[in-house]
Amino acid sequence: MAVAASAIAEGRHGSRVPSPALGVEFDQLADTVNQLAQRLEGVETTRRRMLADLAHEMRTPLATIDAHLEAIEDGVRELDDPTLDVLRGSTQRLGRLAQDVTAVSRAEEGQLQMALRPTDPATVVEIAALTARDGFDSKGVRLTTAAVDTPLVSADPERMAQVLGNLLDNALRHTPAGGTVSLTTSSPDSRWVEITVTDTGEGIAPEALTHVFDRFYRADPARTHDRGGSGIGLTISRALTEAHGGGIAARSPGRGAGATFVVRLPGLGTR
Ligand SMILES: Nc1ncnc2c1ncn2[C@@H]1O[C@H](COP(=O)(O)OP(=O)(O)O)[C@@H](O)[C@H]1O
Ligand SMILES: [Mg+2]
Repeated sequence: MAVAASAIAEGRHGSRVPSPALGVEFDQLADTVNQLAQRLEGVETTRRRMLADLAHEMRTPLATIDAHLEAIEDGVRELDDPTLDVLRGSTQRLGRLAQDVTAVSRAEEGQLQMALRPTDPATVVEIAALTARDGFDSKGVRLTTAAVDTPLVSADPERMAQVLGNLLDNALRHTPAGGTVSLTTSSPDSRWVEITVTDTGEGIAPEALTHVFDRFYRADPARTHDRGGSGIGLTISRALTEAHGGGIAARSPGRGAGATFVVRLPGLGTR
C-alpha cells in the first residue's frame, strides 16, 4: 500500500492500491486512496486538455501573422491597409484569448471584484440591447426586447452587461439573416428574476447542450473557428452569474430549432 501511495504521490496517478486483504478498514483505506488517485488523474487530464486547447487557439492567429510577415518579406504582399487589418485582427484575437483566460480563471477562483447594488433588470436589458443593436442591424437579424416590471436584483450592472453581451454575441453569431433574437425579463416568483435570450438560429444538439458551458468548448470547432470565438464566453458567463448567487441554463429543441439561454438572479423582493 505504501509503495502504491508513493507512486501516486510522485505523479503516477494511474497506480492503484491493491486490496491488502486485512479486513474492512484496510479495504476502505485502499478504496479512499484509489478514489484520490482517480480524482488526481481527472484533474491532470483536464489540465493537459486545457493547455492543449490553449495552444491550439494560439496557433491559428500566430500562423496568420507569420504567413503575412513572410509574404511581406518576400515582396508578395505590401504592408497596405488590408494586410494591416489581417495582422491587427490576429493580434486582437490573441489579446482577447489572454483576457478570456485571465477572466475565466479569476471567475472560477472566486476572485472577481463584484460591486453589487440594487439593479433594475429592465435597465440592464435595455443597455445590452442598445450596445448590441449595430451588429444586429448590419447582419439583418431582428433584436426585440420585452422587459416587464420585475423585482430589482442585487447585481453588478457591468458584469451583467458582460454576461448579456456574451449571450447576444452568441445568439447573433448562430442566427442567420432574417432571424430574430429576443431579450426578455420575467419573474417566476418574487425570489427570482430571469433574463432570457432566445434565438431562432442553428440551435444546439442535445449532446452538445451539456457541454456549452465547458471551457474552450465549441459545438462545431471546424465551422466556428473562423468566427472568432474561443469557446470561453459561456464559461465566464456562468462563473459571473454564479458569483451573483444565480445561475444560467441552456435549452434547445435541437439542431436548426433555435436556442434559449436563461440567466437567473436572486430578486430583492417586491418593490
Ligand atoms: N445561441 C447559440 N446557438 C447555437 N449554439 C450556441 C449558441 N450559444 C453558444 N452556442 C454553442 O456553444 C459554444 C460555446 O459558446 P461560447 O462559450 O460563447 O464560445 P464561443 O462563442 O467563443 O464559441 C459555441 O461555440 C456554440 O457551439
Ligand atoms: Mg461566445
